[in-house]
Amino acid sequence: MTPSLTAVILAAGKGTRMKSELPKILHPICGQPILAYVLQAARAVSAEPPVVVVGHGAQQVQRAFSAAFARFVTQDEQLGTGHAVMQAENLLRGQSDLVLVTCGDMPLLRGETLQKLVDAQKSNPGAFSMLTVLHDNPRGFGRIVRDSAGRVTAIVEEAQATPEQLAIKELNVAAYCFRADWLWDALHRIQASPKGEYYLTDTVELAVRAGLSVQAIVIDDFTETIGINNRIHLAEAETVMCRRINERHMLNGVSLISPETIYIEAEVSLGADTVVWPNTFLLGKTSIGAKSVIGPDSHIRDSQVGERCKIFKSVLEGALVQNDVDVGPFARLRKGAHLGNHVHMGNFGEVKDSYLADGVKMGHFSYIGNATIGANTNIGAGTITCNYDGEKKHPTVVGADVFIGSDSMLVAPLTIGARAHTGAGSVVTKDVPEDTLVVGVPARAIKKMIREK
Ligand code: UD1
Ligand code: MG
Repeated sequence: MTPSLTAVILAAGKGTRMKSELPKILHPICGQPILAYVLQAARAVSAEPPVVVVGHGAQQVQRAFSAAFARFVTQDEQLGTGHAVMQAENLLRGQSDLVLVTCGDMPLLRGETLQKLVDAQKSNPGAFSMLTVLHDNPRGFGRIVRDSAGRVTAIVEEAQATPEQLAIKELNVAAYCFRADWLWDALHRIQASPKGEYYLTDTVELAVRAGLSVQAIVIDDFTETIGINNRIHLAEAETVMCRRINERHMLNGVSLISPETIYIEAEVSLGADTVVWPNTFLLGKTSIGAKSVIGPDSHIRDSQVGERCKIFKSVLEGALVQNDVDVGPFARLRKGAHLGNHVHMGNFGEVKDSYLADGVKMGHFSYIGNATIGANTNIGAGTITCNYDGEKKHPTVVGADVFIGSDSMLVAPLTIGARAHTGAGSVVTKDVPEDTLVVGVPARAIKKMIREK
């Protein structure tokens, strides 16, 4: 039978060096809080919701994650990592055969690496297994002490280490997989450090003294062990995470031109054969279909863009763009902008809370707000929907195949019927029937257009 496994994530520390009102583990990396990555890695090795030990900012942290993703226990006083794990005992004793312990501030530790750790412990008859890394810069990590036979005998914290121990290059990552029945008892046997803290790392000596082996799995990617203590670490971790995200998209068939200049947040999806040009930001819950060309210099947040679209030097936020649409340069789609298939939106246009149906053309310098524009309508240069009267927003409804002359002011609320025309420079204040030409200020109908059948 496979042993049951639960993850415990230590996250009660204050994160003083971040100098922030926001709890450390809620600081974002590529659009997600640090803790979200740790939870995700834990979920890769166990279907049980991880148990997060919280203290500083506990309520704020709990509010940020739903109960489906994590359970929380509080550590009221931060008396050390061993004491922190103890807070999960009531919840987990007898519930889980193995307990994986990791830290909430290590977002780069991969699920696959945790799996290696768990697999090692499954075949270890001893008390627990842990991850270590070899590096010249110890960064304040605990040092791994081994005996002449190469067996791990202790972890020594930097503050307590002798000069010889300080020179040890093998470092404690702070990820462990314990045999649960042994762990819960051992935690109560940890002695307080000179600073009055109960170190989880002291479990090594407890195990060794009881004749139980401790397995160390040396990982080779040092970047996985970056823990975040200040904003320099935050920036380092973000650079690594960004590179990982970009590489994932490239391996999935997306071309990134100068990827180091492209910032793609974690939840963004991109279709195959899409090309992203430099200085482009794809943020939030954005999805881009296949064979589109995005950028350079574009900023897209929480938007859906279809297939074969071109978004050139433009800003999109909360927009829905269907297929074969081209946008920009210097276009802005705001919340609720919806462009149908084959829409052309050229330079210096802004669309907000509006639907432009299939084939609409809006080439130059226009503002369309709170409007519905029918299929294949042409919006002349400089057209403005005057949607705001100083107090309220009003709608504009334009039918299909309409020709809006350059510099038309469409004073809402307003309806313009299908196939109507407005003359250049007209200020349209009254509804326009179908097939009608209006001109002037204020615009008047000058003829019912005769249409060839
Ligand atoms: C710890 C390890 C060290 C390891 C290093 C890797 C111990 C004693 N030392 O040191 O060997 O090399 O991590 O980064 O474990 N926490 C609580 N409650 C507490 C204390 C800490 O929840 O009372 C949490 C912190 O929020 C943090 C994690 O435990 O997420 C690690 O604590 P931290 O104080 O950063 O330990 P380090 O000194 O870095
Ligand atoms: Mg630390």
